[in-house]
Amino acid sequence: MAANEIDVFANEEKRTLDLGGHVGFDSLPDQLVSKSVAQGFCFNILCVGETGIGKSTLMNTLFNTTFENEEASHYESDVQLRPQTYDLQESNVNLKLTIVHTVGFGDQINKEESYKPILEYIDAQFERYLEEELKIRRSLFNCHDTRIHICLYFIAPTGHSLKSLDLVTMKKLDSKVNLIPVIAKADTVSKSELDKLKIKIMSELVSNGVQIYQFPTEDEAVAEINSSMNTHLPFAVVGSVDDVKVGNKMVKARLYPWGSVQVENENHCDFVKLREMLLRVNMEDLREQTHARHYELYRRCKLEEMGFKDTDPDSQSFSLQETYEAKRKEFLLDLQRKEEEMRQMFVNKVKETEAELKEKEKELHERFEQLKRMHQEEKRNLEEKRRELEEEMNAFNRRKVAAETLMGQALQGCSQPFKKDKDKKNGCFCERVLMLLNNNTDLSRYSRLITLMHYFHWT
Ligand code: GTP
Ligand code: MG
Repeated sequence: MAANEIDVFANEEKRTLDLGGHVGFDSLPDQLVSKSVAQGFCFNILCVGETGIGKSTLMNTLFNTTFENEEASHYESDVQLRPQTYDLQESNVNLKLTIVHTVGFGDQINKEESYKPILEYIDAQFERYLEEELKIRRSLFNCHDTRIHICLYFIAPTGHSLKSLDLVTMKKLDSKVNLIPVIAKADTVSKSELDKLKIKIMSELVSNGVQIYQFPTEDEAVAEINSSMNTHLPFAVVGSVDDVKVGNKMVKARLYPWGSVQVENENHCDFVKLREMLLRVNMEDLREQTHARHYELYRRCKLEEMGFKDTDPDSQSFSLQETYEAKRKEFLLDLQRKEEEMRQMFVNKVKETEAELKEKEKELHERFEQLKRMHQEEKRNLEEKRRELEEEMNAFNRRKVAAETLMGQALQGCSQPFKKDKDKKNGCFCERVLMLLNNNTDLSRYSRLITLMHYFHWT
């Protein structure tokens, strides 16, 4: 429907008509009630408090039953959340109750991040609901709504005021959930101390800007009781599942050597006030506030984060389709930009690798050339040596031939009779030369022979 069409209906004058008789739409509230009763309700409580502060006992006391209670250890390395869901029935009303306990809260030396798992848990439940809401085929009425409707923050009764862990955690939680602080184990402090502690806690909460849940006063039916109860905050509670005989009545109480503390006695503690406010008077408001305030805030932030908005910069109303188209275009442009970046990166990488390869090829080529030069040099040297050796051999052969010729001549001379002493000497020498030539082929000896023959003037 176009915006101007809606405006026409808005400006249209409405007339009040009297009915001629009973029509039946006055039963609408009854229809709603019976439908809600048939559907059942769900309620989710988050208990935040140090280990052993009395969370489980208070829940057992509150619902007058015994839930599964597993004692937590004091040596957890971080804070965890332990949800447990139960189906309860009172008269004909079914209640799906989820109780979430913190485990290990306040047990770490560094408590700076203790609030984080709690916030994450609350957000995760909102996210779960939002996902269901955004589905095409959604079943919000049938799905188990796990969003936290109330957070009971357990304050230790010891000490003069709030610890910094209490303040930091409550400050982080107050915009996410309906926060109700309670003073646990209130039977361990005297009445006057308790009054002082309450005043101190409230003033610290106010001065630190912690917004706790205020019981609503708009509805006339509950305005009086709620505004009176707001002045009693934070409630000082005592928990016990033990039935003790007081007078002739069995009551829930804690028994001490000097007497008993009755859980449901308003002079002893604020347990009844808490139960009344939480379950009997304001349960629906807590559920409504969770949906209308805390969930709406989460949803708005989440959708804005995703790029959805109700108006464009010129305050024109923005349709979901337009937002989707704009977001899609933005996404495609982003994708294109990223693709281009990747492509450019790839091209640069290829270029770099190519340059590296070219450099390596050049180096290899230079090395090859160097080796080739070295090889040629070596070849030349060898060639030189070969030539020298050949020359040496030729010279030797020449000398050998000369020596053999001389030897032949000498042998001829030896075969004639010696006339002179010199000839005698020559004859003996020739015999020796012959002997040597017969027995020895050594080249150096040949050359020495030739030298000797020169000496004796045989050449
Ligand atoms: P974890 O789940 O282990 O963190 O402990 P919790 O916070 O659930 O405490 P739980 O209810 O188990 O109580 C721990 C102890 O405190 C038990 O011995 C209880 O009897 C005792 N206790 C519980 N509530 C009160 C109370 O109101 N007053 C006193 N004096 N003791 C209490
Ligand atoms: Mg417990």
